[in-house]
Amino acid sequence: MARSQRVRAVGREGNILASRSSFALQCEMVLPPLPSRNSDQPARRSRRLSVAVLLIALGSGWGETPGRAAGEPEPLWAYGFSTPPAPGDKAVPQSPPSRALRPNEDPVEQTRLRRVAGSSAMYSWVDIRDLGNVIDWFPGDHPPMPQIIAHGSPSLGNAARGCASCHLPTGKGRPENASVAGLPVAYFIRQMEDFRDGLRVSSDPRKPNTPTMMLLAKAMTAAG
Ligand code: HEC
Repeated sequence: MARSQRVRAVGREGNILASRSSFALQCEMVLPPLPSRNSDQPARRSRRLSVAVLLIALGSGWGETPGRAAGEPEPLWAYGFSTPPAPGDKAVPQSPPSRALRPNEDPVEQTRLRRVAGSSAMYSWVDIRDLGNVIDWFPGDHPPMPQIIAHGSPSLGNAARGCASCHLPTGKGRPENASVAGLPVAYFIRQMEDFRDGLRVSSDPRKPNTPTMMLLAKAMTAAG
């Protein structure tokens, strides 16, 4: 078995075991073991009480999708839209990364080198917008970026984007995508597989960066 497959198998199993045991723990906390037939009354009363606590908890909205009332669309503020999606709405695909100058902006401003406080790096807007060659203001803050993180998968040609263009070189991400730093390996691999297989999508079909994330996951190959 290749190393990556082994990691995946062990990781998956570890995950399932972890979730089983925490589920078992919750059940034990809410529902004490069933009393035997000839047990005394207090034990039975305590179980009835626990069931009641569980029902009240479920009735009070635990277990519902957070922030969403029944039949309501997603909370729009979280997705940056002011109206709910209409039937058939779909994200416009994001254009491939480009270093071309934008005709509606001053070329001098676009090519002028800029700095940020505390960094000795200098980049222009053209560099910053080139998502196939991710800029790095603070390279000392993280280990060197592998090819795929900085430049994306070569199999995508000019549509390749570095993972860091959205998730940043530290993996901490921006609010509109996600922080991937420190995620458990098994969870990380599972998300990539789910994006690849179309099992993980955005709640708002107009959000364009999730389809891009899915495109990149589809281009993924198993690391040796
Ligand atoms: C175009 C921006 C973009 C790029 C580039 C990108 N991602 Fe993402 N990624 C996203 C978005 C947006 C989400 C959250 C999607 C959602 O839940 O709707 C996400 C989520 C994830 C998650 C799940 C995080 C979690 O907490 O569940 C992982 C893992 C991930 N990305 C890995 C990668 C890897 C590896 C690459 C490079 C091959 C990559 N991403 C490139 C936008 C991007």
